[in-house]
Amino acid sequence: MPATPPSKHPGFDRVARLYPRLERLAYGQRLERGRRAFLPELAACRNLLLLGEGNGRFLQALLTANPSCTTTVVEISPRMIACARARLAPKQRTRVSWIEGSALNAGLPDAAFDAVVTHYLFDLFEPADQARLLQRGLKALAPGGLWQDTEFQTDGPTRLARLRNRLLLTASYRFLGALCDFPARRLADHLPLMLAAGLTLEREQGFGHHFTARLWRLSGTLNHE
Ligand SMILES: C[S@@+](CC[C@H](N)C(=O)[O-])C[C@H]1O[C@@H](n2cnc3c(N)ncnc32)[C@H](O)[C@@H]1O
Repeated sequence: MPATPPSKHPGFDRVARLYPRLERLAYGQRLERGRRAFLPELAACRNLLLLGEGNGRFLQALLTANPSCTTTVVEISPRMIACARARLAPKQRTRVSWIEGSALNAGLPDAAFDAVVTHYLFDLFEPADQARLLQRGLKALAPGGLWQDTEFQTDGPTRLARLRNRLLLTASYRFLGALCDFPARRLADHLPLMLAAGLTLEREQGFGHHFTARLWRLSGTLNHE
């Protein structure tokens, strides 16, 4: 099956500027804490791949925490890229390569990155495209490399927590689904795909049962010498 074709209003173009404010309204600072959950671990990486980076808040934090790394950003929304670029200092901009296009089929060098980052990206796709996204990232990731994935969850420890998650997710999919162009209309759990791909879960941090930041490692060794 071919990947879902890109549209005339790619990704989150319509909400690029408003996105941080909308996010704070719905979730306060929690999504931001999720993005930054494993910054210390990523601070040792040299070359990172950021898929669906959005308007650059994580990118800026990463370039500050890790002053020597280079990054490649694959982002389908031109306006998100413009916002991300504008956020960076001139010296930081020289450390970023931008690919305006879909992370599902971007041309990327094999095994070139020692970390891949996806924050709140898998939730935009149906399972077939989630698998494509994962394969694309894994092909670009060097053996022994890290993958930080931060994602919403439907599950929770109590009925109330599960109900709250479902209500928030339904509202988010309705609202963003009407404004932005992405294929999924409900959250498909991609955890089994990550496990089946041979990634090993190294660390996991939950945030109020709404979402979880996970740090995965691709088996093999990575030599930083
Ligand atoms: C829910 S937002 C999350 C943005 C960011 N990662 C964050 O933590 O705020 C999803 C982002 O992925 C981008 N996007 C959507 N589909 C994409 C695709 N196929 N390839 C690359 N980026 C995509 C959107 O334009 C948007 O910037």
